[in-house]
Amino acid sequence: MSFASRPAQALRSASRRASRASPKVAPKQASYSVLARAAVSNVPRRSTVASVRGIKTLDFAGTKEVVYERSDWPLSKLQDYFKNDTLAIIGYGSQGHGQGLNARDNGLNVIVGVREGGSSWKAAQEDGWVPGETLFPIEEAINRGTIIMNLLSDAAQSSTWPTIAPLITKGKTLYFSHGFSVVYKEDTHVIPPSDVDVILVAPKGSGRTVRTLFKEGRGINSSIAVFQDVTGKAKEKAVALGVGIGSGYMYETTFGKEVYSDLYGERGVLMGGIQGMFLAQYKVLRANGHSPSEAFNETVEEATQSLYPLIGEKGMDYMYNACSTTARRGALDWAPVFEKANLPIFEKLYESVKNGTETRKALEFNSRKTYREDLAKELKEIDEQEIWRAGKTVRSLRPDYKA
Ligand SMILES: NC(=O)c1ccc[n+]([C@@H]2O[C@H](COP(=O)([O-])OP(=O)(O)OC[C@H]3O[C@@H](n4cnc5c(N)ncnc54)[C@H](OP(=O)(O)O)[C@@H]3O)[C@@H](O)[C@H]2O)c1
Repeated sequence: MSFASRPAQALRSASRRASRASPKVAPKQASYSVLARAAVSNVPRRSTVASVRGIKTLDFAGTKEVVYERSDWPLSKLQDYFKNDTLAIIGYGSQGHGQGLNARDNGLNVIVGVREGGSSWKAAQEDGWVPGETLFPIEEAINRGTIIMNLLSDAAQSSTWPTIAPLITKGKTLYFSHGFSVVYKEDTHVIPPSDVDVILVAPKGSGRTVRTLFKEGRGINSSIAVFQDVTGKAKEKAVALGVGIGSGYMYETTFGKEVYSDLYGERGVLMGGIQGMFLAQYKVLRANGHSPSEAFNETVEEATQSLYPLIGEKGMDYMYNACSTTARRGALDWAPVFEKANLPIFEKLYESVKNGTETRKALEFNSRKTYREDLAKELKEIDEQEIWRAGKTVRSLRPDYKA
């Protein structure tokens, strides 16, 4: 199923029209809500497409799963559903920014809560949140909010919990974008009060992407989950909030499965694994006398610019078929060798996630006073590796290169 479906296209072109016409910082109840409403009302009510849109059970390689879709929540319904609510976005990092602005542009009543005077306070003001009106210190925002969206860093969710917990009173809803704090409660000590709904909407991408896809009239894929359902409406609320913050499709999961798969994936193929694999391949090429440009092109540039987009477009066999028969033969032979070599590493990694080792490391590291500088130092070391220095020159030769 492609996101470039008809309603999405309608929304996209409406959004494009507006981005030309509207100011950068939109006022409350801003232009996107108007646009989105216009686009949704342009969608044919009973076409072949419409009849298969909305909640659906889909067959994922033989397993049936329920998928929730934005089209079941036209903006008028969404705004009506949350008309008595105040969404309090607590924390204004990449998710606070993306989710907060999207919900605001969808016409929902949103406020932001962050530490006064910190870098997030400044960033929120730059995005048009007004101190005393829509921007408050954390505790005040929680007191004013009915849906408390805890988007502090995972380490901060743990360290601030003793202050925050007493403010999450009966009738409020507690929302997370990661299962981390609740699932690893022995380490985080985040134990939600028993009389509130506790839900999760976890966008499968950075908060910046949450925002850019929304602005393009598309929507990010998100996981949704319910940890505690006091009102009997927790799942419905999670789906509605998923739409509110800019999701296109929502996949149901549990807090546990969300956090295990997320920590595992980012340490594996998404980030840690790919850096390790790129570097190992590059080093062997260099050790055998290949130049930096040749080693980089054959390891990273061809992967990211040519082959991986083909996998994204139509799958692995499609990418294989786009390559020479020589390449296909060799790749078919070597894929199982890599699978066998990597399987024990992935098993070890999953166990390290599940038994909380990864969580404890992340909490310890990210609670240090110097965590930003310490992370920056290690990332600088990566940036200075020969492979990535060679990459800068290779990229500079791209026709569409921007410094
Ligand atoms: N980023 C992603 O790609 C992504 C994707 C899906 C889900 N998530 C989840 O979404 C949540 C938010 O993640 P994020 O990446 O947007 O946030 P983040 O960048 O990790 O955290 C940013 C916020 O935490 C605040 N903060 C940090 N330490 C604090 C402290 N001791 N007291 C008070 N505030 C503190 C920062 O405020 P100051 O500026 O004042 O320090 C900032 O507003 C997390 O649960 C994360 O796992 C993230």
